[in-house]
Amino acid sequence: MSKAKTIDKTNRTWGGRFTEGADALVEAFTASVNFDRRLYNQDIDGSIAHATMLAHVGVLSTADRDAIIQGLEQIRAEIERGEFAWSEALEDVHMNIEARLTERIGDAGKRLHTGRSRNDQVATDIRLYLRGAIDAILAQLTRLQVALLELAEREADTIMPGFTHLQVAQPITFGHHLLAWFEMLRRDWERLRDCRGRVNIMPLGAAALAGASYPLDRHYTARLLEFSAPAENSLDAVSDRDFAIEFVAAAALLMTHLSRCSEELIIWSSAQFDFIELPDRFCTGSSIMPQKKNPDVPELVRGKVGRVNGHLMALLTLMKAQPLAYNKDNQEDKEPLFDTIDTVLACLRVFADMVPVLRPKREAMYRAVKQGFATATDLADYLVRKGLPFRDAHEVVGRAVRLGVDTRRDLAEMELSELQVFSPLIEADVFSVLTPEGSVAARNHFGGTAPEQVRAAIARARVWLAERE
Ligand code: ARG
Repeated sequence: MSKAKTIDKTNRTWGGRFTEGADALVEAFTASVNFDRRLYNQDIDGSIAHATMLAHVGVLSTADRDAIIQGLEQIRAEIERGEFAWSEALEDVHMNIEARLTERIGDAGKRLHTGRSRNDQVATDIRLYLRGAIDAILAQLTRLQVALLELAEREADTIMPGFTHLQVAQPITFGHHLLAWFEMLRRDWERLRDCRGRVNIMPLGAAALAGASYPLDRHYTARLLEFSAPAENSLDAVSDRDFAIEFVAAAALLMTHLSRCSEELIIWSSAQFDFIELPDRFCTGSSIMPQKKNPDVPELVRGKVGRVNGHLMALLTLMKAQPLAYNKDNQEDKEPLFDTIDTVLACLRVFADMVPVLRPKREAMYRAVKQGFATATDLADYLVRKGLPFRDAHEVVGRAVRLGVDTRRDLAEMELSELQVFSPLIEADVFSVLTPEGSVAARNHFGGTAPEQVRAAIARARVWLAERE
């Protein structure tokens, strides 16, 4: 249902200068209301703050201010009840709400746009929206981090093979592996938090591009909207979307990390690895192969990185050739931004639900660590401690591994006399370093994989979680 009758001949709030209505195709082409209506709360909050400031500086009467605020709150309720009649002819969320306000309260509604433009209005709305979205994302990220620390604590002593080149490299603890994930996400948390600081600057008052000819108190409006400050420069305030690009870049990195974690979950839940069991509710079956249980959730997370990376390219490209100040190109910022927010939130939620119910298969992990000569470096280190230069030790162990490959035995399964053929420095005490337990316990320094270090790292991470703001 259009509100056309209350507006001028072109159906637009800017209709005064125009002699003919918009071409229907152009109208549909330029409209953004179908996607920017999700900004309605921020648009109403911004308008209430703007009207409050206008009254504060004496540009608007308190009676008009009160009518505007009451009218906007009624419109908010209308939208929330699903009763608001959005109109494409009114182009965007801003003009839809303003037209409805005027319809409800008359002339006071027409005074709201004093000293304001849709250019500073939309930039303000997006920043408010993104600020809230970042807070929601940080909260989900925190849930995931807490879940990872709990799982890492339960698995601090669990031994598994660590890999390089996806080949068994050295024994590690599963807790240590999970803490690597935690570190990636810690940096993502910090990046988003840092980005939030640059998002939280207020464009309002920049008006179309040059500021307004009224005595606006932009610091006052900024305080009302809980922005940290009004933007310094009116041209910059309405034109740049670098804050959105920065957010999507941080989101792309976060998604990259979730994708890497997903990749490991997928590999680990294969029959060939069999390191973990994903609960049935995070998997699906196959319509043709009855035995299948596919790790769909991690696969989808891995797949969804593509769209966020795409959105990053879209926004960078959107911005790159725009002269100052506002250009309509910027209307294209919203869909990539919204989809990035939705994607990241959905992936984080599902991950934070999944991590606490992952079931590690400790015996399978242990079996795998015994199969890949994972303690070969430990034998070399043992020889170094007995005085052999590392390069010579490397050579000796290489030959012992060769024997192991030929006779299908791990180093720990060989006789002492067999090992002594490779070096007379090898004595009975060698077997304590050839066990996976001895190997991980030996890596007992800051950042190492020893269970003691894993517990210390978890304790430090918990302090960080508690102290960060
Ligand atoms: N829908 C527009 C956007 O998203 C609002 C600003 C329009 N400003 C203008 N001068 N056409 O960017």
